[in-house]
Amino acid sequence: MSLVNLIDLPVLGDDRGSLVAIEAMDTIPFEVKRVYYIFDTKAGVSRGFHAHHQLQQLAVCVSGKCRMRLDNGQTKEDVWLDSPSKGLLIGDMIWREMHDFSEECVLLVLASEHYDEADYIRDYDEFLKSVNQ
Ligand code: TYD
Repeated sequence: MSLVNLIDLPVLGDDRGSLVAIEAMDTIPFEVKRVYYIFDTKAGVSRGFHAHHQLQQLAVCVSGKCRMRLDNGQTKEDVWLDSPSKGLLIGDMIWREMHDFSEECVLLVLASEHYDEADYIRDYDEFLKSVNQ
């Protein structure tokens, strides 16, 4: 199964412009407890470099683009988030890195849980040990 699980977010456009609505337990398969967004990322900076024990997320570049690298400990896959209608689902125990942010990039993330630093795995060797055990 592909690591890259994209959701084609429905665009409710009319002659005034475009609108995307994301409904919990409908468009995405989880309840949303937290929303955050990453913006003003400096040139050449990469982010992420962690996995989560138990967290479902949807990531979408609502403006600009970035390259998301997903890694399950055996396979790595890259995907460009380059459209406000392109949502990427990221589940448990997936190492993620974000690279090549465009200047105007706003990366919106919907998350199934509140922020909990204890849920993070920030050490790649520890991640590999956990997924391969
Ligand atoms: P971090 O997870 O390191 O960002 P990224 O994975 O995108 O590189 O988060 C940066 C800082 O923000 C860190 O101190 C934790 C804090 N933070 C919160 O307080 N709440 C949140 O929901 C998130 C995602 C991060």
